Amino acid sequence: MFDLDRFIADCRATLAADQSHKHVREVVARAVADPSSVLSGLGEPKRAGLHKLYQSNDLTILNVVWAPMMTILPHNHNMWAIIGIYTGREDNIFWRRIPGSGGRVEAAGAKALCEKDAEPLGHNIIHSVTNPIPRFTGAIHVYGGDFFKPTRRSEWDPETLLEGPLDPERNVRRFEEANAIFAKSRG
Ligand SMILES: [Fe+2]
Repeated sequence: MFDLDRFIADCRATLAADQSHKHVREVVARAVADPSSVLSGLGEPKRAGLHKLYQSNDLTILNVVWAPMMTILPHNHNMWAIIGIYTGREDNIFWRRIPGSGGRVEAAGAKALCEKDAEPLGHNIIHSVTNPIPRFTGAIHVYGGDFFKPTRRSEWDPETLLEGPLDPERNVRRFEEANAIFAKSRG
């Protein structure tokens, strides 16, 4: 079964040996290669949220659970990340800044992530995420820094695609709103 303490220790040891995220990706890939083991270790996803598994200055590990059909706005992290899917799907749109536009972005690419995928995201990546299926999606997200430390992170307005400051608390509220919408849809 997926052993969280072992996973954290493996990520820490890999990071100590090599500050890049290349080898951490291999640790995540190994974990999600056996999705049923991760499901046994972390539990079946039942509630959308950024569930914290580990937090330090140079490493954060989250169990990110997306509600059915949930979409999150374009945002950046200002640190590298690895996304490992252990159940469901994530559709990622990647965005790039339009020079001279006052912070506007345009779509630059997309990637459909499936169970067992472990996708590395570079330090400067801007992405938005949709769970395109009518059930919860669960993913282990590993970040090369303290994800919850207030930094100059941005998000982009979904209508105008203009840049604004990312409010971490509002971000958490969006997951709660997604849970409320899901509960309502269930009657
Ligand atoms: Fe993200």
